[in-house]
Amino acid sequence: IELSVSREGGNKSSPLLYGIMFEEMDHSGDGGIHGQLLQNNGFQGDSLGLTAYAPVGAAVISQDKSHPVSDSITSSLSVSVPENTTDYVGFANTGYNGVPVLNSTYTSSFWMMGYYSGTINLQLVGTNSGIVYADHNLTVESTDANFTQYEATFNSTLSADGDNEWHLTFDGSKVAGSSLNFGYIELFPPKYQDRENGLREDLATFLEKVGFKFLRFPGGNNIEGLEVDSRWKWNMTIGPVVDRPGRNSDWFYPNTDALGLDEYLWWCEDMNMTPLLALWSGKSYGGIVSGSDLHPFVDDIKNELEYLFGNTSTDFGKLRAQNGREEPWKIDYIEIGNEDDLTGGCDTYPDRFNQIYKAIHDEYPNITLVASNGDYSCLPSPLPTGVIIDLHLYRNPDDFVALFDQFDNQPRDQPVMVGEYGCRNTSNAKGTYWSYMQGSCSEAIYMMGMERNSDIVTMAAYAPMLEHFGLIAWSPTLYGFNSTPGSLTPSTSYYVQKMFASNKGDTVVQVNSSADFGPLYWTATKTGSRYYVKLANYGTKEQNVSISILETSSGRLEMLSGSQFQGNQPYQMEVETEHTEVHSENGTYSVKMDPWAVAVLVVS
Ligand code: AHR
Repeated sequence: IELSVSREGGNKSSPLLYGIMFEEMDHSGDGGIHGQLLQNNGFQGDSLGLTAYAPVGAAVISQDKSHPVSDSITSSLSVSVPENTTDYVGFANTGYNGVPVLNSTYTSSFWMMGYYSGTINLQLVGTNSGIVYADHNLTVESTDANFTQYEATFNSTLSADGDNEWHLTFDGSKVAGSSLNFGYIELFPPKYQDRENGLREDLATFLEKVGFKFLRFPGGNNIEGLEVDSRWKWNMTIGPVVDRPGRNSDWFYPNTDALGLDEYLWWCEDMNMTPLLALWSGKSYGGIVSGSDLHPFVDDIKNELEYLFGNTSTDFGKLRAQNGREEPWKIDYIEIGNEDDLTGGCDTYPDRFNQIYKAIHDEYPNITLVASNGDYSCLPSPLPTGVIIDLHLYRNPDDFVALFDQFDNQPRDQPVMVGEYGCRNTSNAKGTYWSYMQGSCSEAIYMMGMERNSDIVTMAAYAPMLEHFGLIAWSPTLYGFNSTPGSLTPSTSYYVQKMFASNKGDTVVQVNSSADFGPLYWTATKTGSRYYVKLANYGTKEQNVSISILETSSGRLEMLSGSQFQGNQPYQMEVETEHTEVHSENGTYSVKMDPWAVAVLVVS
């Protein structure tokens, strides 16, 4: 197949096109990219009980609701010490299926109440092996007047596996026949950009490498709530973590909300991603609030916006500054709801959208607003000019490929966002758990369809982002990990996203070809004299492609190739992108595309 790439500019390509959607699901945040490693650390939500806790030594532990750590953290852990105890005793936390122990520096903190003057010992210990990887003493002076927070920093040696736990023990002889209370425990490994209450450095750095341009957050279903009252509430996710109650989420485990509104925005800023903030729009799984009943919730949105954008003379702007961010946040895109055409939301969405749109647009006319669906029967008519409509697509491979031309005839005055997409072949076990070459190739082809139309497709977010192996409700995801050092595994889709997000020009250019699309697909963009040609072979036969780009001479070829059902699995890397240098005397490049391969040629 011969492709000839035009040097003449075509349509502008959205600089934000490739992004990622994040919501707390599959322990992507708690026990995931948020750095804190101990599970159930403040007894958030109402179902976990003593999950992840165990006594150490002769101590007896229980959840104590009569000694709350704060108004929000309404339980602590009571540690009773039997009469005649002489040893160190205390409790363990086993983290999220283990505590990852690296050759690294950890920070740990806890709140404590009860009379105790002396040494507290913190350890990182192999659960079965008993190997001590870190051992640190600190001195405390605790009384029963109130809870006091203590913090320590210590080093650890590397553990070979993730089967480790965090121990807090104290001199039992000083407390024999009595008890102490502990609450809101935390353990952080090195944090990305060293942010307080920040992200895990390893998982965040791995994400940063993709080169995503925007982050859509905080959901997804998880913003909606199973009930109105368990929706994601912005003001419960800000300030000191000990003042965040957490919530029962939509994805079957309590959220700590330690990864809250400000943390998301620091994340965006540190990774140079544009934030796309989703707001609760009145729809939960358990009911819908609309009409005049929505007014208090619209007022709450105005407060949220004052918190984000108000100067420090406003009540909420002042609160933001107290929480560590003096300068207003910069948010240019806000989405009104999530999938409001579903679960009974369609009829009331036009009214709900209009109320929220007006509240935002009147005060912040420069913010681009996003409607949470593309079903015109569920949208206001007319839709205000400039509003982007958000489509979500989880499809099997053939269906994705069939949607290559989905946006070719999209009216050029109606911008679109694909706020969630990913190949999800629920009829094929191979696709249910980890993405594989055929599926990722189909995503690449769908992405090329978007890229060709990226004058009007403004943003596209792969979803979901991250899974903690063994703690999942939805798969596949972009990448995964567990507590074992080195377990971090990218999917084949991770590589496709990386190839596409980090290789895109600002202008779409025409490609003349000797054949029609299928099974080979292509698209080309350029910035100045640098060209990016993307290729995908959705077929069982090798394709030899000759690409001509006049006045170019060298660059690189990035190639992702593997057999149809081949993919990476936890701990098992099989497929990854390979880079080769390319040179040409006359601007013509030969590329051999294996079945199911995805490639990008970057030359200038
Ligand atoms: O990404 C998983 C879920 O799919 C999201 O929470 C929801 O928006 C969509 O239906």
